[in-house]
Amino acid sequence: MVSVRPVREPAPLGRASRLRFAGPFVALPLRMRLKDRVAVITGAAGGIGLAAAKRFVSEGAAGVHLVDLDEGALRGAADGMNPERVSYSAADVSRDADVARYVKEARERHGRIDVLFLNAGIEGAIKPLEDYPEETFDRVMAVNVKGVWLGLKRGFPALRDAGGGSVIITSSVGGMKGWPSLSAYIASKHATVGLMRTGAREGAAHGIRVNSIHPSPVDNRMMRSIEEGFAPGAGAEARAGFEHEVPLGRYGTNEEMADLALFLASDESRFITGAVIPIDGGMTS
Ligand SMILES: NC(=O)c1ccc[n+]([C@@H]2O[C@H](COP(=O)([O-])OP(=O)(O)OC[C@H]3O[C@@H](n4cnc5c(N)ncnc54)[C@H](O)[C@@H]3O)[C@@H](O)[C@H]2O)c1
Repeated sequence: MVSVRPVREPAPLGRASRLRFAGPFVALPLRMRLKDRVAVITGAAGGIGLAAAKRFVSEGAAGVHLVDLDEGALRGAADGMNPERVSYSAADVSRDADVARYVKEARERHGRIDVLFLNAGIEGAIKPLEDYPEETFDRVMAVNVKGVWLGLKRGFPALRDAGGGSVIITSSVGGMKGWPSLSAYIASKHATVGLMRTGAREGAAHGIRVNSIHPSPVDNRMMRSIEEGFAPGAGAEARAGFEHEVPLGRYGTNEEMADLALFLASDESRFITGAVIPIDGGMTS
C-alpha cells in the first residue's frame, strides 16, 4: 500500500505556512479513496447517479459502470469522463434479464465489482390514495423495489467473488416518514429498507456491507417534477413549502448525496452495515 506523507513547509516570516506533499510518494494524488475499486451505478444518467459517477472517478476508481434506461443519455453522461475507466449498459432495472446483463457487462469490462450503488428510481404520480392509478403503483414498485431486489440478487455473486464489497441503496426521507399524495413512492422507499436489512444480514458473512441513504428533497429533475405535481405552474411555492420542512432550510445537492455514497463505498465506512442513513438537513429529526 503506497501512502502520502504531508510535510509542513516552514513559511517565510509574515506569510501563512503551506502544506505540500514531498518525498518518493509525491506522484500519488491525495484523493484515492476508491483506488482499484470497480463500481456499478444505476440511475447513472440522473442527478445523483451522475454526480456519484464523477466523484467515484475522481477518487481513483479503476472502473465505473453506468446503468440507465437510455443509451443516448448514458453516452452524454459518460462524455468527458475517462473512457478507459467509464463504461455503460442501457438497462431497465425492473427486468431480470437486463439486470443480469448489466452485472455481466460490468464484470466483463472491468473484471470485478466492489461497489454497487442501487440508485435508479421514479417518483410516480402525485395523487391522493383514492385517485392513484394502479398501473403507476405497479411501475413504481417494479422500478424502486424490484429493481433493488434484482440488483442485490444478481449483484451479490459478483461482490462475493471480489471478496466482499459495499452496496448502497438510495431510499429517501420517504422511506422513514409518510407524505400525502405519494403513496407508491413512500411505500417503495420503505420497502427498500427491508431489502437493505436483509442484504446486510445475508452479506455480512461474505464481507458485503449494505446500507441505505435517505435524502430529503434534492435540487434536480425529480424535485422539479414533484413540485409541478403538487402545485402546477407554481413550482417555486411548492419548493418553499418543502424547504420549510427542512431545519437547514434548503434542498440538498446531487454532490452532497454523492459524497455520502462515496463514504459508504470506501473503507472509511468499513464497520457500517444495515444502516438507515438520513441526509436531510434535519428533516426527519
Ligand atoms: N431528487 C430527490 O429529491 C430525491 C430525494 C430522495 C431520494 N431520491 C432518490 O434518488 C434516486 C436518484 O434520483 P435523482 O434524484 O437522481 O433523480 P433523476 O430522475 O435525475 O434520476 C433517476 C434516474 O433513474 C433512471 N431510471 C428510472 N427508471 C429506470 C429503470 N427502470 N431502469 C434504469 N434506470 C432508470 C432515470 O432515467 C434517471 O436517470 C432515486 O431513487 C430517487 O427516488 C431523490
